[in-house]
Amino acid sequence: MIIHEHFDINENGHLTLGGADTVSLAEKYGTPLYLLDENVIRRACRTYREAARKSFGEDALPLYASKALCFTEMYRIAAEEGMGIDCVSGGELYTAKRAGFPAERIYFHGNNKTQKDICDAMDMGVGTFVVDNPDELSAVSEEATSRGITQRILLRITPGIDPHTHRAVVTGNVDSKFGSAIVTGQAMEIVKAAISARGVDLAGLHCHIGSQIFDIEPFEDAAKIMVSFLSDIKKECGYDIRELNLGGGLGVKYTEYDREIDYASAISEIANIVSCACNEHGIELPRIILEPGRSLVAAAGATLYTVGSVKCIPHFRNYISVDGGMPDNPRYALYQSQYTALIANRASAPRDFCATLAGRCCESGDLLGENIKIQTPKRGDVLAVLVTGAYNYSMASNYNRIPRPPVVMIKDGEDRVVVKRETYEDLVRNDV
Ligand code: LLP
Repeated sequence: MIIHEHFDINENGHLTLGGADTVSLAEKYGTPLYLLDENVIRRACRTYREAARKSFGEDALPLYASKALCFTEMYRIAAEEGMGIDCVSGGELYTAKRAGFPAERIYFHGNNKTQKDICDAMDMGVGTFVVDNPDELSAVSEEATSRGITQRILLRITPGIDPHTHRAVVTGNVDSKFGSAIVTGQAMEIVKAAISARGVDLAGLHCHIGSQIFDIEPFEDAAKIMVSFLSDIKKECGYDIRELNLGGGLGVKYTEYDREIDYASAISEIANIVSCACNEHGIELPRIILEPGRSLVAAAGATLYTVGSVKCIPHFRNYISVDGGMPDNPRYALYQSQYTALIANRASAPRDFCATLAGRCCESGDLLGENIKIQTPKRGDVLAVLVTGAYNYSMASNYNRIPRPPVVMIKDGEDRVVVKRETYEDLVRNDV
């Protein structure tokens, strides 16, 4: 096992993912190549579903935050696993629709839904809008009223929590582009506006404090603050909030230095806090929604590259250049995210080489990692970066006109393409 139990090494010294030989897959499909172990994704969905039911009751529902990894087959898997989904754009909604995802289980997020997004989502019969701000509340209310429908909504609330993660992925503090803060009084204002607005049914509240968080405490603090706010709403408006969406954000082990979270016990700990807080405030436990993205899909993935040049600069550092980089994984460039990398065709050799992993783009910041301990590489080796299932394919770009790699899903040792490799023709499709 390397980092997670579905990564292993076979008798040829090759890295395996879900039992499949990654070196053979690199030969079959070419590189760069995204791989995913479907069983790992399905198991993670079941862990969340079972833990949510056990801890919060039968009606609790985990949503898959589909921004983490978005293509048609992922929505099919989420639907089969009985998940709801979080979509944040017309494009995600369109893909979910294409997969036949049940519209009533879609929660439509985003801090700036365009009028077209609002109309498209209503045309689709999206179950719940998570309304971000007063302007959006008016727009949703007007559109629903003009259609003669009542749109179920949650309101996005910022509980004012600092979850100790990378600044770019913090979302729940007061100074945020997302939601309405409780401490400024704006949360109560939007609640009152939603209660009296036409065309909407205020079902509940939503909060999401950030991503890649390992401590349970910030989640517990957010839950306490939200429950206390539900109680304030009951007192001030006599209104029962029926649903509380606690967002996503639980961390994932990327390297040997990260902890591994037991998601079921984390959910049960958060549930205890929520029940105690509800008892304390004398309110009924609302329906609880969870919204994980990364922790459902990150561990399932690996990206394969072919090693190109290996350059040693005496007294400075070693560079290994691969045939991908920031276009398929921008996370080191954006957040200095740490990964585990290895030479897949000599996976059991000692990691005695320290290197900077460089991509092939025309800029120095195009790196996949620095100070990476790896087997001594040579041109033509297959290099694997592990735990790339979340926010890699979904954040990929065509920078330098590099086509996106294909996504290959592995299930019980069998592989199939779920997203085809982009071609140069794909790149110029919309050029006139
Ligand atoms: N719900 C909402 C409203 C969110 O904004 C997010 C993530 C999630 C749920 C899922 O959070 P997760 O369980 O995946 O942590 N691109 C960044 C991560 C951005 C997360 C954005 N929101 C990265 O690569 O680390």
